[in-house]
Amino acid sequence: MGKITVAIDGFSSTGKSTLAKQLAKALGYVYVDTGAMYRAVTLFALRNGFIGGKQNNISALIKLLPRLQLKFIYNKELGFSEMYLNDENVEKEIRSLEVSKYVSQIATVEQVRYKLVDMQKKMGREKGIVMDGRDIGTVVFPDAELKIFMTASPEVRAHRRYKELLERGEEVKYEEVLKNVQNRDYIDSHREISPLLKADDAIEFDNGDMGLEEQFERIYNFALRVIAKHK
Ligand code: DC
Repeated sequence: MGKITVAIDGFSSTGKSTLAKQLAKALGYVYVDTGAMYRAVTLFALRNGFIGGKQNNISALIKLLPRLQLKFIYNKELGFSEMYLNDENVEKEIRSLEVSKYVSQIATVEQVRYKLVDMQKKMGREKGIVMDGRDIGTVVFPDAELKIFMTASPEVRAHRRYKELLERGEEVKYEEVLKNVQNRDYIDSHREISPLLKADDAIEFDNGDMGLEEQFERIYNFALRVIAKHK
């Protein structure tokens, strides 16, 4: 059977990566979490004091970009790929609230987007890929055979994220998480380059009151129909 490209975009904490992982596993496709790539660059910028201090130094970050190595390495036990920054596994650190606070800012930097989009396009050359992010259906794979745009209210998403962070042992307040979600929505949707937009041919999917299983079943069945058409 022919392989297709699946592009999943949407607001933060809409469950994009959960769905993308499930879908990739069921279809036997590669899964790529592009948010992890922007998060890894943000972690690098934080560690080097290029952001998060008194003064940002984005030009210093831009200068180091060509030497920045990002890799996904498959973890057999976990069943998914983990993010490596210059050969260090940063999968855990990139999910902290600290990185979440600054990542939208880093994602507005043209040179960062240019580097990451180029890497993403190369990863998808062979198709058979499920990629999630903000600009996958619009910029990275405008010709993807299946595009999904996920939404849910900011409150629903903040609750999900709050639970996740608590489970990970982070001390956070719900209000702080909600503010972060709203702030990221704003920056992601209003940035000049590749703002978060629903592609004209994407299917909009509001999963505010839908269980994970139902969501997966619906989209999986839909994906099978699209694949059958592209044999
Ligand atoms: O999906 P996520 O929450 O891990 O993404 C982190 C941030 O990275 C998000 O605020 C927007 C940005 N991002 C982006 O601009 N483009 C992408 N393709 C993926 C993520």
